[in-house]
Amino acid sequence: MNYIGIDLGTSAVKLLLMQGDGKILKIVNREYPISFPKPGWSQQNPEDWYRETMAGIQELLQDSDKSQVAGISFGGQMHGLVILDDKDEVIRPAILWNDGRTAEESAYLNEVIGKEKLSECTANISFAGFTAPKALWIKKYEPENFARIRKIMLPKDYLAYRLSGVHSSDVSDASGTLFFDVKNRCWSQEMCTICGIRQEWLPKVFESYETVGTLKPELAGELGISEKTVIAAGAGDNAAAAVGTGTVGDGTCNISLGTSGTVFISTDRFGVDANNALHSFDHADGSYHLMGCMLSAASCNKWWMDEIIGTKEYNKEQQEMKALGENHVYFLPYLMGERSPHNDPDARGTFIGLTMDTTRADMTQAVLEGVAFALRDSLEVAKALGIEITHTKICGGGAKSPIWKKILANVLGIRVDVPENEEGPSMGGAMLAAVSCGEYQSVEEAAQKIVKVKEVIEPEPELTALYEKRYQQFRKIYPACRQLFQQLK
Ligand code: XUL
Repeated sequence: MNYIGIDLGTSAVKLLLMQGDGKILKIVNREYPISFPKPGWSQQNPEDWYRETMAGIQELLQDSDKSQVAGISFGGQMHGLVILDDKDEVIRPAILWNDGRTAEESAYLNEVIGKEKLSECTANISFAGFTAPKALWIKKYEPENFARIRKIMLPKDYLAYRLSGVHSSDVSDASGTLFFDVKNRCWSQEMCTICGIRQEWLPKVFESYETVGTLKPELAGELGISEKTVIAAGAGDNAAAAVGTGTVGDGTCNISLGTSGTVFISTDRFGVDANNALHSFDHADGSYHLMGCMLSAASCNKWWMDEIIGTKEYNKEQQEMKALGENHVYFLPYLMGERSPHNDPDARGTFIGLTMDTTRADMTQAVLEGVAFALRDSLEVAKALGIEITHTKICGGGAKSPIWKKILANVLGIRVDVPENEEGPSMGGAMLAAVSCGEYQSVEEAAQKIVKVKEVIEPEPELTALYEKRYQQFRKIYPACRQLFQQLK
């Protein structure tokens, strides 16, 4: 049988058709707009997600045997707030994971309710992009919208609802709402009370590989596939990407170079980073994970290439770069503020160290290196917790760049194992659908049988040493700018 994985991303929905044995039959990408109504704000229209997903499924299945489709599941951008009224109509545009408008609400949760209380209830503290501070923002600034709320949903769960008619979520995505008790894998009544929301507004939570329902008959007709098509809960995009790259089991690591950049560490045991710099979330395989998330990763490169220097030839541009490790320019990649480890919505992107002989190639290189250094910040937090990471998988659009992967291996000083495809979340979504339909007994079994590594990049001692020096410089820049960023608001 075949399975559809839907990655509801920030710039596009990526759909993947997978055969039961893991072979990818087709991939389709469909973009939708994102709006930035004010600096640091970001919104999308859930109807756009649905429209492009339906069109994407049709395109995906154009030349294949539709009777073979057994299941659909998801990886989705996390933390986004989708609110529905008593008729299940969307009340306002979704506020996304990289929206920084809730600095005050987040500070209220961390400072007035207190980090200890939040951590006790949810295993996490508040970050501006999380869902709970967004609900507080709506309550304060859009009381008429707040009064109409009957359901609070996450982006991919809204799609699952449109496809199945069932209001559901999964443990990994629910973990990023700050309404969820990660340790016990259920909603936290105490957090609902703190935020003034009703627990019945939150959907039923499933494990990521569980079935939430079947495709609505009218949609089955429209798509030409069976009404018995299973809709499985799916996962937040990072947990789904981890499944798609085989990052399951204790101590394994995946780095995602997508719009966001994440360091995802899978673990058997529930644990909380005492400083809460890393998120402590449930994993899609039934266990847990720790994660550092930077808000702009491959999106920094896209911004630099598309908007600033105006080219689509990313590879050609990157080939102009001079020797790695020898750049005098640094770049802080905080174009949307930063989450891990600084938790600072006011942080901003910055080039520093420019001279008269600085070239466009130096700045291109600084962008790639700045993202790698910022990911290293999260890896350093994991190290300080006693977690030893010797190698990592990699996925996301940025993983297509050979030079970026090399920079990463050497900045982090660890081996990078490149899976056969970099389609993390959509592959993970298809694998979760396959587990839900009984093609595999567990997520772990699916990962073992399906995921293969095609290339291994070892760090080179000399280059690692050069980058070590540069990283030590890089880490001084943000603390030196922090106060200034606040004054620039
Ligand atoms: C994770 C996070 C991002 C989004 C991107 O905490 O906010 O990785 O999920 O889609």
